[in-house]
Amino acid sequence: MQIISISSLKGGVGKTSVSLGLASAAREQGIPTLVVDMDPHADATTGLGVKRDENADDIGTLLDRPKRVELADHVVASGWPDPLSSASDGSGGSASSGGTKVLDVVRGSSRTALYERPTTRQRELRRLSLLLDSVTKYALVLVDCPPALNGVTRMAWAASTDVLLVAEPSLFSVAGTERTLRALDLFRQEYAQGVRSTGVVANRVRPASTEHQFRLGEMERMYGDRLLPVAIPEQSNWQQIQGAAWPVHAWPGETAAQSAALFDELLAALHRPLQGRRSQRRH
Ligand SMILES: Nc1ncnc2c1ncn2[C@@H]1O[C@H](COP(=O)(O)OP(=O)(O)OP(=O)(O)O)[C@@H](O)[C@H]1O
Ligand SMILES: [Mg+2]
Repeated sequence: MQIISISSLKGGVGKTSVSLGLASAAREQGIPTLVVDMDPHADATTGLGVKRDENADDIGTLLDRPKRVELADHVVASGWPDPLSSASDGSGGSASSGGTKVLDVVRGSSRTALYERPTTRQRELRRLSLLLDSVTKYALVLVDCPPALNGVTRMAWAASTDVLLVAEPSLFSVAGTERTLRALDLFRQEYAQGVRSTGVVANRVRPASTEHQFRLGEMERMYGDRLLPVAIPEQSNWQQIQGAAWPVHAWPGETAAQSAALFDELLAALHRPLQGRRSQRRH
């Protein structure tokens, strides 16, 4: 099971948007996927159109007693529509409700904020790993992290096979991401030896902007092969798609289709070895 944490120390750079885009790509490709919303703000839960379910505990509650709960009992199906199957069976397209697409969610909650303290205690760091140890249904787990490198993100890193950092092509984001990579390397050596790859994806790129092209060049030099070959452009209807709680792959129009294709490429790149990624960048 591949577990990818989507992180950044800087807020608002697109962690949740990238998580949702990857979830949409995985769903489209029929990859059984679980999204774990670790951000107390719970934006991924909102973007996935998840409804309240009295029988399913949120991640904050589950992290309190990871050895005593079965995570599988607390996942909920995403509320994303599937125009093809929902027209005929009204199921909403999730395999959890009988279709072929499995996209489930562990709901985010403000309670996660209680874990947002700096810690290196194994007992704290292992909480998410312990929860994920018990699930077998998924090929991919996407963990949407809060904009911090404290307990919650560390817990996510300690449970992950891959860490994806999201950066914008701006001075502060580029420099801050370099520092985050160093922090991640240090953490990995001691506490997250299961992480086998760390990469950076550029988001909100405006291809016509010379400043953005300059920053992308800088990112290549600074991150080397860790910079993923796919950059996600600034997309004008992105908020509309997220506001409607739709997957980008189901949204009509050429712009959404192009964006969906890039998330397919990003997902494919995350499955590949890191070497040679730079030469094929597309946006
Ligand atoms: N490629 C993009 N094109 C246009 N808008 C985008 C793009 N990526 C993100 N956004 C918008 O930018 C805002 C911040 O994005 P998002 O919430 O994904 O960032 P985040 O890193 O998860 O933020 P936080 O640190 O608060 O968790 C959102 O309104 C989102 O719709
Ligand atoms: Mg977010």
